[in-house]
Amino acid sequence: MIKFISGTDSFYLSTDNSSYVIKILKDDMLCHRYYGQKISAEETELPYLCGRKSNSSGEFLDEENTCFVSKENTPFEYPVFGDGDLRNPAMITENRFGQRTSRLIYKSHRITKGKKSLSPLPSFDVGTEDVDTLEIILSDSVSGYEVSLFYSVFEKEDAITRRAEIRNTSDTDIKILSAQSMSVDFEPRDFELITLNGAWARERYIERRPITAGSLAIESRRGATGHQGNPFAALVDKNTTEDSGISYGFALVYSGNYKAAAEVDQYGSLRFQIGINPFNFDWTLAPGETFVTPEAISVFSAEGLNGMSRRFHNMCRKHLGKSAASLKRPLVINSWEAMYFDINDRAVEQFVNNCKGLDIDTFVLDDGWFGVRDDDSTSLGDWFVHKTKFPDGLKNVVRVCRENGMNFGLWFEPEMISPKSELFKAHPDWCIHVENKKPLESRSQLVLDMTRGEIIDFVYDSVAAILDEYDISYVKWDMNRNITDIGSAALPAEKQDEFYHRYILGVYELMHRLTEAFPHVLFEGCAGGGGRFDFGILYYMPQIWTSDDTDAIERLKIQYGTSLVYPTSAMTAHVSACPNHQTRRTVPFKTRGDVAQVCNFGYELDVAKLSDDEKAMIKEQTALHRKLEDLIATGDFYRIDSPFETEFCSWELVSADKKRAFAVFATQKVTANRGGYYLKLKGLDPEKIYRINGKLKLHGDTLMNYGLPAADNPTDFSTVTFELEEE
Ligand code: DGJ
Repeated sequence: MIKFISGTDSFYLSTDNSSYVIKILKDDMLCHRYYGQKISAEETELPYLCGRKSNSSGEFLDEENTCFVSKENTPFEYPVFGDGDLRNPAMITENRFGQRTSRLIYKSHRITKGKKSLSPLPSFDVGTEDVDTLEIILSDSVSGYEVSLFYSVFEKEDAITRRAEIRNTSDTDIKILSAQSMSVDFEPRDFELITLNGAWARERYIERRPITAGSLAIESRRGATGHQGNPFAALVDKNTTEDSGISYGFALVYSGNYKAAAEVDQYGSLRFQIGINPFNFDWTLAPGETFVTPEAISVFSAEGLNGMSRRFHNMCRKHLGKSAASLKRPLVINSWEAMYFDINDRAVEQFVNNCKGLDIDTFVLDDGWFGVRDDDSTSLGDWFVHKTKFPDGLKNVVRVCRENGMNFGLWFEPEMISPKSELFKAHPDWCIHVENKKPLESRSQLVLDMTRGEIIDFVYDSVAAILDEYDISYVKWDMNRNITDIGSAALPAEKQDEFYHRYILGVYELMHRLTEAFPHVLFEGCAGGGGRFDFGILYYMPQIWTSDDTDAIERLKIQYGTSLVYPTSAMTAHVSACPNHQTRRTVPFKTRGDVAQVCNFGYELDVAKLSDDEKAMIKEQTALHRKLEDLIATGDFYRIDSPFETEFCSWELVSADKKRAFAVFATQKVTANRGGYYLKLKGLDPEKIYRINGKLKLHGDTLMNYGLPAADNPTDFSTVTFELEEE
């Protein structure tokens, strides 16, 4: 619900459990008033700037005209540079005189039903919910532009999506040096910051740290969101746990350079912002033009981190483009770790035939099928079939898949070009580069300049030609390097700093065109594993290859961390061969299956090398996964034991009607002579009686409060699973 309360000049936004209040203060300053647990609309009469001190950066008399308040100490809804607020601005602009001072004041507002699509820029959509949108229009008196702040309220999910649009209503160019998607100020409070950080093969580890005076930021300067961080941050109280306490979760629907920053000022007030990274960003806005920031989302939970995650998960699964579409998620077998570049018609035919009877839906032919690609040093951009490996094209592979009752999927890395390729010979200037410098290679590859329309057209045509020619139901879209040598031959000097954002807009345009033209194809995101795992990609591709690390024990932390924001239906997880190719660790086949089960499940190994027992286990695992598909698509996910804090790791999916649940309990490393351990399930109906693994019968309250014995003599890397059905 969104209300404008004219008596107090306040906007009151409310969800089922939270309120967000904005107030127009004297001189039309737009100020933030409150964000948190639900409060009554009528109480917006409360004294507002109480206790705020005057400093020396622009004073004004408070509402009661009793004392002076400093702008430096005023919570602005969209703070700008140069007008007395010396903390992080949400926006910095520069006018034709090279001056950066702005003064943004309230002009008007409208409240409308529904929510506009920003396509091809990804954004959340209303789905079946009744969503209201507030637009507050601000105007700048110095350079003559307008800013619209948009707020869309998703009541059931306690979520608010936000963005800013900047319109140049003056008659000369202005430059935007920073335009954050959202800014929010909090009264002094001992918050902690949670972020997801890591590296290749250990993405999205949970980091939690106190926020003290000064600035704390996570960001990407890589051209993509990256393995090292994620465009997400949570502000939580010190006592917030998985299941209790306050959490504010913020995320960006964006796949390029981002920044999320928290700043604590001299009085302990906290400002949080998230948006495009202002680093190397400078956007020229001509008269009449509009700049749209990516969308940000905030969710509020008074039910701890699990509550925050469930709200993010629901927003993703119900309101985010292809993630909310009902494309069936196939159970796949992928060629990469099984064969790497050692693929050809006969080998693939044999590989697929070996999968007979295992109930696998789709065979995915990974890297190495195109150009003359026999290793990773050539052919990116040459999206035609490797003639030596597949003399008759991919017809035979498709036929063999069909004969075995399987669909066919194919790997592409559309944004790349190998210096050794036909494409490079024809268009050496299509890679991202600057004059007088040989661009840096990474994995022997360069990046295509996706800011250029003719390059987007070329990649579209090449990928579409293959998708038209062969019966393909699945595409794995990889992206294996960071972007360097920033520069575009197609942009004038004053627009070179628009490159990073224009790059990702170009990628979104390509994704938009391909996913629209091939609606039956399931596109899976990938970036050297999970290097671009964000809501931007999930708008176009409902699932992402979570990490190149396929070791089940490593995956506990990766999947646990990823689940803080993203549902398990967004993660792909495969059972791979042991010793594991990344860690050389050997983990039981059962554990490998159990850890992957709650995600989009599959295999990445050579079935011919498995024992009969292991093959039999594949049949059990695929049968179990069929039973879990619904739970993964619509169930509530609960983290139970953290692999970052204990020797165990456990999680659980519970159906919306609480009639079914599935829990996985893993032991990372056994402690000698440890006492017993009871797994306390979550989210069940206390009064329902559940049958566990077809045997034991217990009430929901017993299972949640007393628990189930879970670590009776465990061994390193072992798992126990519990399937619960209402009796
Ligand atoms: C990186 C991906 O994450 C892998 O799964 C695989 O597709 C390789 N690229 C292929 O080059």
